[in-house]
Amino acid sequence: MGRVPVDCVLRLVLLASALVQPLGCGDSSTSGNRCTAVGSDCSLRQAAQVSGVRIGAAVRSGFEGDAYTRVLVREFDSVTAESAMKWNQTQPRRGVFDFDEADRLVALAEANDMAVRGHTLVWDQATIGATPPYVEEIRDPEEMRAVLSEHITTVVGHFRGRVDAWDVVNEPLETVGSTLYENAFHRALGPSYIAEALRLAHDVDPHATLFVNEVLADAAGPKIEALIQLARDLLADGAPLHGVGLQGHFFGPPRPQELRRNLQELADLGLIVELTEIDIVLRPAGSREAQLEQQRQDYFDVACACLAVASCRRMTLWGFTDRFTWLDGFVGPGSAPLIFNGAYGPKPAYFGLREALAKPASCGEWSYPGSVEG
Ligand code: XIL
Repeated sequence: MGRVPVDCVLRLVLLASALVQPLGCGDSSTSGNRCTAVGSDCSLRQAAQVSGVRIGAAVRSGFEGDAYTRVLVREFDSVTAESAMKWNQTQPRRGVFDFDEADRLVALAEANDMAVRGHTLVWDQATIGATPPYVEEIRDPEEMRAVLSEHITTVVGHFRGRVDAWDVVNEPLETVGSTLYENAFHRALGPSYIAEALRLAHDVDPHATLFVNEVLADAAGPKIEALIQLARDLLADGAPLHGVGLQGHFFGPPRPQELRRNLQELADLGLIVELTEIDIVLRPAGSREAQLEQQRQDYFDVACACLAVASCRRMTLWGFTDRFTWLDGFVGPGSAPLIFNGAYGPKPAYFGLREALAKPASCGEWSYPGSVEG
């Protein structure tokens, strides 16, 4: 856990440099790259430098396309593959690996000075997990151990040094509930599959930050309690767990104070925390204008919750344009949960997020650095 103090120092240094010589795109007279004035013409990634965090987006399959890629590289300094690094894509058949699409994404990221989150090595949930049938059929522990080892070793090895963080295990808990999900890995290996997966990944890339990533643990309740306990158990077991990701899919109103508390409690274990898959659906009531304004506030509040916790180092949105959102398939069309509209125009939510990033003091009582606890 030696990482956290280093990260805190890094953030403080970044912040200090921002205070001494405010980064800001507001003063375009001196530099087009500067970002102080909210509402001025800076990108999210420039704004994120002010608060010393990274701002990421999940990138869809077949991402090439002029407008899409232009906005992606202009606004974000981190990417996650929405699908391209999942098991069913990287090893669709046993022993047959395919990294073509993921390689293209990593190359795009490197060419544009963006970090890459690896998502995900192990994810088997009944609803939308990414484990191919040949894995789900395995019952024999030794066979499962061999398959898990080959997968993690090959995938993490392939991207070693180019992916800074891995969601080693995604959604280990019941989606709605607070016990470990009894997926194929659990069935074959028992609960220790999580620690085993972390150790395998760490052996191959000791510099990668290794995460457990969880859905619907953003508010107070039994799920976050179970997640905190899981993190505690893994750490007590000596597993190389470095971070916990809260996905941040908000199907209803976010509860930013609870989110902040959850992040802080995980950080207090010595972990890095991230919001890894943010999207916030429009609330159903009110005029369109009121809905969009509420969404602006929601994005601002969620960003502030992360900014208030020194170990919260990156926020990743699950996409960026309403033109392509997984929620159209998952909850039906029209939830418009992202920050650009379908024509790549910034929505009010874009400005809410940017305001928090560029001017964390505007978070009020949560303002950074007053609440730095690192
Ligand atoms: C989703 C993708 O966005 C979809 O395109 C895919 O069909 C299913 O998976 N939690 C996660 C992500 O961790 O991997 C999921 O991504 C969304 C929920």
